[in-house]
Parts: sequence; C-alpha cells; structure tokens
Amino acid sequence: MKPRVYITRKLPEAIVKKISSICDMRMWNEAETPVPREVLEKEIQEADGLLCLLTEAIDDSIMNKAKHLKIIANMAVGYNNIDLDSATKRGIMVTNTPGVLTETTADLTFALLMATARRLVESSDYLRNGEWQTWSPMQLTGQDIYGATLGIVGLGRIGEALVKRAKGFDMNVLYYNRSRKPEKEKDLGIEFSSLESLLASSDFVCVMTPYTKETHHLIGAEQLGLMKESAVLINTARGGIVDEEALYRALIDKQIWGAGLDVFEQEPVCVDHPLIKLPNVVTLPHIGSASIATRTKMAELAVMNLLQGVTNSTPENLLNKLEVK
Ligand code: DGY
Repeated sequence: MKPRVYITRKLPEAIVKKISSICDMRMWNEAETPVPREVLEKEIQEADGLLCLLTEAIDDSIMNKAKHLKIIANMAVGYNNIDLDSATKRGIMVTNTPGVLTETTADLTFALLMATARRLVESSDYLRNGEWQTWSPMQLTGQDIYGATLGIVGLGRIGEALVKRAKGFDMNVLYYNRSRKPEKEKDLGIEFSSLESLLASSDFVCVMTPYTKETHHLIGAEQLGLMKESAVLINTARGGIVDEEALYRALIDKQIWGAGLDVFEQEPVCVDHPLIKLPNVVTLPHIGSASIATRTKMAELAVMNLLQGVTNSTPENLLNKLEVK
C-alpha cells in the first residue's frame, strides 16, 4: 500500500507527479486560497504525511484528529505555525526548509531597506500621480545607506547573508543574538551588542529572529523609544516579533523615521491596516523568499522531507529529533 499524503496547496506539476509516483496523494487544488480548516481536519485523519505552508495552523487540536500521521513537512524555514511540542509528544516528525531561501530572503531584506531609506515607493507614486512639478533641493530626500550602521536582531543564516550585502555598502554592522558568535564576529567583521545599545546606535534595525513565545513583541514601545529619530526598522521575519500598535505610534510621533515590513501580525493584512496608510512605511505581502527558483527549491525540499518521513527514513531537516518508528 502506498503511503497517503495530503498537500495543503497546489504545487507545480512536476512535483505533483513525483509525489504521486510514490504516494496516494490528495491536494488542495487552489493556488491562492488556503485549505479550509474543516477540509484539513478531515484529510489529516487518514494521512501518513502532511505537506503544509505557513498559512496553516497545525495545532494540538488538529493533530488530535490524525490517526496515522508520521510527518508534517512545512514549506518554510519558520515553523511557528506548528505546535512542535505537541507533534513531538505524539511522535510526529516535523521538518522545515532551511538553507535554500537564505540568499533570496537576504536580497529582499536589503531591497526593502533601500526602498524604505530612499523612499522609492513614495517617489514612484509621486511621479505617477502627476505631482512632479520641478527638481528641488530637499524633495523626497531620504536616509543614506552607504557607511551607515546596521543592527541585526537575530544572527542566523539570513542575518549572516545580510551582513555580506551590508559590507558591500561599507556599513558598520552590530548584531544581537541569544548566544554570542565570536567566530562570526571575526569572519564577518561584525560586533556583538546588547539589544538596547544596538537599538540606540543603529541607523537601520533589521529584525531577523525566529518567532517564538520569547520573541513575541520583542520590539515594543520601550525598544522603539531607544531608536534614533532618523532610524529605519525593517522586519522580514515574522509580524508578531514587532508590536504593530507601538510601531504605528512611534512612526506617527516621529520617534523613528520609517519602516519596511514584509510581514504582519495577521496575514493577509487588510488594506485598512493603519500602517499601510503611512507614507514612511513600505509594505510587502510576505515575499522574502519569492523568487521562482527559490520557491521551487523550497517545494522540492519539503517534498523530499515528506517522502523520507512517510517511507521511514530520517528526514534531513528534522526539527524534533525523534526516533523513526
Ligand atoms: C519562511 O520560510 O519562513 C518564510 O517566511 C517564507 O519563505
């Protein structure tokens, strides 16, 4: 008997073919709409493997419905959508897709930093809306990037890749991380800092840490209050790490100069969200890893993990270190 797997979103044809050759596969056949909870609850009952996205909350109550589930393969590096403890308790393997999206996400983070600092979206709108009357000395002036200080909150793979881009712009780089990384300091030419002093000294603060209970609202009113009035906050990690209400206030009160956000506390974010309306905020719909090549690699990696899990070998990207049954 082929293992039964459920895929929560339409995947490219070639990938679907590969899964179907090994598994009895069922898939939510929509590209733009998430699988309804009740469909997932039904499908998970008989599944041996689940391939899901960050849009699905795989919590204790849904795992409770699963009778045979061996593996949850998340097509993302972040896995805050999955209750890892509950999976571990139930002997269900959980995997993610690290590595393949590092450079693409670092590219987008730096692009967002530049777009925010140099007011690219606002400038483009200005031109398109017919507001451009003349060249004038202080028109649409932004913040310099070259030679500025970048503070990275969370030095993982993507943070390190961001450093390489920043060094090309001769930036002075500070980092804050739960554990200090002396080797990286030497190799990358960066300096460890407390969160407080990083916030106070940086021209750009990039949030790059995983989202956990401990990092929920890590950047709130108090932290924003430490930042320079000319500083820019960039978040391409997870929305919940930044307290959005506090950020809105800090932007309105001109405590900080601008923000670039690829992620939000609630996604998809609604168009009435107050942060979207501010001219000094550049907002994107969670596209950090969105290049054709990278999204394809993420899908392939998630499938590899899924197939390893349902065929009883240890998946390469196992997060919860279980013994394979
Ligand atoms: C991830 O992988 O966690 C990103 O947020 C989506 O690529």
